[in-house]
Amino acid sequence: MKLSHVLASTSLFLSRTHAIGVGLPTTREAIIDTLLTFYRSLDLKSESLLRSTTTSDLVFDGTAFASIGVGAPEPLVGQDVIAPALIASLPMTTSHNLANLHVSFTSDGKANVTAYVLAYHYKKIAQPAESSRNVYLMSNWVEGVARREGGVWKLERVKLEPFFQSGNAEIMGLEGGEGDEAVA
Ligand SMILES: *[C@@H]1O[C@H](CO)[C@@H](O)[C@H](O)[C@H]1NC(C)=O
Repeated sequence: MKLSHVLASTSLFLSRTHAIGVGLPTTREAIIDTLLTFYRSLDLKSESLLRSTTTSDLVFDGTAFASIGVGAPEPLVGQDVIAPALIASLPMTTSHNLANLHVSFTSDGKANVTAYVLAYHYKKIAQPAESSRNVYLMSNWVEGVARREGGVWKLERVKLEPFFQSGNAEIMGLEGGEGDEAVA
C-alpha cells in the first residue's frame, strides 16, 4: 500500500473520531500522557519531544542506579543538561512499557505520577538476531512530579529506581555482561 493511502485513511479516522465527539482529556489523562510522551521521546530519540514534556528546571534523579553501575551519582539538574544526556545514554533500540500509572494531586497544585516501567534495550550483538544476548531488560519504578506550565502539564522532577534487571548488560555499555545471566 502506498504511504499516501495510509495517510489518507489515518486522517479520515482522526476526523471521524472528532466528529463523534471525543472529548478533551481529563487532567489525570493529560498528566499520564506527559509521562508516556516523556518515555516515547526516549524511544524515538527525540530531544525536542523530551524538552516539550519537561520544565527547564527539570531534576532527574537516577542515583539509585549506582548500585548496578549506571546513572549519575548525583541528581542531574536542568533540561539543558538532562535532555541530551538521556538521549545519548540510549543509543540502542529501546521499548519503554509503562504500567500501573497512578496520579495524585498535591496541595501546591502539582501532581505526582508514578508507574512501573519495563524497559527493553535491544542491540544486535549476537547471531541469530533473536538471540536473548541481544536484549537487556530493566524493570524500574518511576516517580514524577508535574506542574502546569503554559496550559500544559510538564515534568519538573523524575526519579527512577531499579527493580530488577535481566539479559545482557553489555548492551548498556556495562562491563561484565555475561550472556543471559541476571545482573546482580
Ligand atoms: C508527592 O511526591 C512527593 C515526593 O516527590 C511526596 O513527598 C509527597 O508526599 C507526594 N504527595 C502525594 C499527594 O502523593
